[in-house]
Amino acid sequence: MAEQQNSKFPEKFLWGVAGAAHQIEGGNVNSDCWVLEHVPESPYAESSGDACDHRHHFPEDIGQIAELGFNTYRFSIEWARIEPEEGEFSFAALEHYRRMLATCHVYKLTPIVTFHHFTSPRWFAAKGGWEVMENAAYFARYCERATAYLGDLIGAACTINEPNVGLLIQKMGFAPPDDEVLNAPYRKAAAKAVGSDTFSAFPGCCHHEKARDVFLKAHRMAFDAIKSQRGNFPVGMTLALEDRQAIPGGEARRDQDRHDVDDVFLGVAKQGDDFIGVQTYTRSVYGPDGMVRGDENTERTQMGYEFYPEALEGTIRYAAGYTGLPVIVTENGIGTEDDTRRIEYVRRALKGVQNCLQDGIDVRGYCYWSVFDNFEWSFGYRIRFGLIGVDRVTQKRTLKPSATWLGNIAKVGGI
Ligand code: BGC
Repeated sequence: MAEQQNSKFPEKFLWGVAGAAHQIEGGNVNSDCWVLEHVPESPYAESSGDACDHRHHFPEDIGQIAELGFNTYRFSIEWARIEPEEGEFSFAALEHYRRMLATCHVYKLTPIVTFHHFTSPRWFAAKGGWEVMENAAYFARYCERATAYLGDLIGAACTINEPNVGLLIQKMGFAPPDDEVLNAPYRKAAAKAVGSDTFSAFPGCCHHEKARDVFLKAHRMAFDAIKSQRGNFPVGMTLALEDRQAIPGGEARRDQDRHDVDDVFLGVAKQGDDFIGVQTYTRSVYGPDGMVRGDENTERTQMGYEFYPEALEGTIRYAAGYTGLPVIVTENGIGTEDDTRRIEYVRRALKGVQNCLQDGIDVRGYCYWSVFDNFEWSFGYRIRFGLIGVDRVTQKRTLKPSATWLGNIAKVGGI
């Protein structure tokens, strides 16, 4: 019986956990996000501070991930550390990430590296960040330099994490409209703090419509830059994808959002990427008057999303169908204080992955978000996505039951 179930996941399936530099490393003081966290009227609930001090704890952390049973670790390298000033590259920072990658190999984990997970250097924000088309070249140069130094140890790479997430959360009503952001007091204060007349940071302080085209160009340039170095590993982008469903009368609105937020990015991924990274947390349901929010009986996660793990199956099918590319689920997870709901969420999400595999869709891996309870951006540390809890003062790690549960699934390669 066990054998029959396991056969539904390919032998080389990537069973992983994911994290991102700014959310777990701590002290990312040269980043645009740190600036925004510290201006008056900041949109952030608190400072990222020491985060999970993963910068110092990575050897034990990576060992723990492997010991739990995972074979993959997705993490991001921090541009603000690697290129602290424009054109000035830090070999010490690159060496740090080389040590992280080497540690993954010691523990036989495949490292999936994200080159950009939301944060950029302060100097980049001061130049207008992702709102300025010419700035795409800065990102490509950084990717080229980083790959030259680290490429031989990278297992797979994501250029940009969720370049569509700003548009997505705007449509969900969770982020202010672009014009409001341009005039926000925190944007002006951040510009002043970095000695510029502008300040653009993604996704917290950004004109998302302008950023869309810059991201699309930057992704293609970064893809080529990585491949021009030691980039003989798969490269792709990751997208924030919701399962977009329509009730009668809602199809046109659903299709419009799908086009604006998902398809324009999927279309560019289709132009030669090696895989598409799917990141899914919930669904959106469209009716004739727009999004239908559900009622008070709808179970919600800490983020306010509908508890709907089946969304993953829908987005894998959509992304694979649109692009024809292999899929890696680079993020899927739930913010909750109730770890039993986390297990239920992942169990049902994995069932969806199995259904896709059974239908012949090429799904290469599943990374749970997140390895730790970490800095959930503007929400701060209140939201608990982690398989592993972290004491905010002592940095002591505590495994949750879900960590052992999912690690065991990874160990045997099936539910
Ligand atoms: C991001 C993560 C974030 C997670 C949960 C994704 O949009 O890539 O950085 O923590 O969702 O909200």
